[in-house]
Amino acid sequence: MVRKLPQDRLTVALPKGRLFDQVISIFASAGIIENLIKQDSRKLILQVDKFNFLLVRAKDVPVYVEYGVADIGVAGDDLLFETKPDVYIPVDLGVGACTIMVAGLPEDRNKYFSNPTSLKVATKYPNIARDFFGKKGVKVQIIELYGSIELAPLVGLADFIVDIVETGRTLRENGLVVLEEISPSSAKLIVNRASYKTKSEEVMPLIEKLENTLVKG
Ligand code: PRP
Repeated sequence: MVRKLPQDRLTVALPKGRLFDQVISIFASAGIIENLIKQDSRKLILQVDKFNFLLVRAKDVPVYVEYGVADIGVAGDDLLFETKPDVYIPVDLGVGACTIMVAGLPEDRNKYFSNPTSLKVATKYPNIARDFFGKKGVKVQIIELYGSIELAPLVGLADFIVDIVETGRTLRENGLVVLEEISPSSAKLIVNRASYKTKSEEVMPLIEKLENTLVKG
């Protein structure tokens, strides 16, 4: 039973799923780890080279890093804008590129652009949606969902959605259109504020190796 991770290693929280392989491949190209790591077991802690890797839900990465259980992690701007964790964000890894958008049914385009005073919006990003419409002076009723956001306007749960769009396929296949762009998003390296100082001998070279690899691209 692990209660405390070995402190002589850097602990890295990585999102399971789509981004994992891309991040691991950047770490390997940068010479941070020797070999690629596969997500083929159910293990949640992987001790590889000089690192403890924690495999967590994307949304939980900033939590592990902010609380200092992980020294570093990888998280998309979408999550960072949504949860505003108190962490350093030193490197844009360039992967996981997507755009945070407002979308809806084409027949609701006029409703959206005719200066509405209030809108019903489904999203897994309630803070981003509230900030965005707040700045426009539009009142929003937020319906918070955890996935398949595109379903909401199709069945009348909400008129519009705020969500990330990567290839645009989910919108297209469900007959939805982009109405407005909120912000681009890509994966960032995030670092716990205390680790940035107390473990700078390990953290700084890691940042430099990543920057060198990404510049060479
Ligand atoms: C995300 C997002 C969109 C989709 C966009 O969902 O919420 O639904 O990807 O990608 P596309 O533009 O390439 O179609 P995800 O796959 O993470 O699943 P979820 O619906 O369970 O959140």
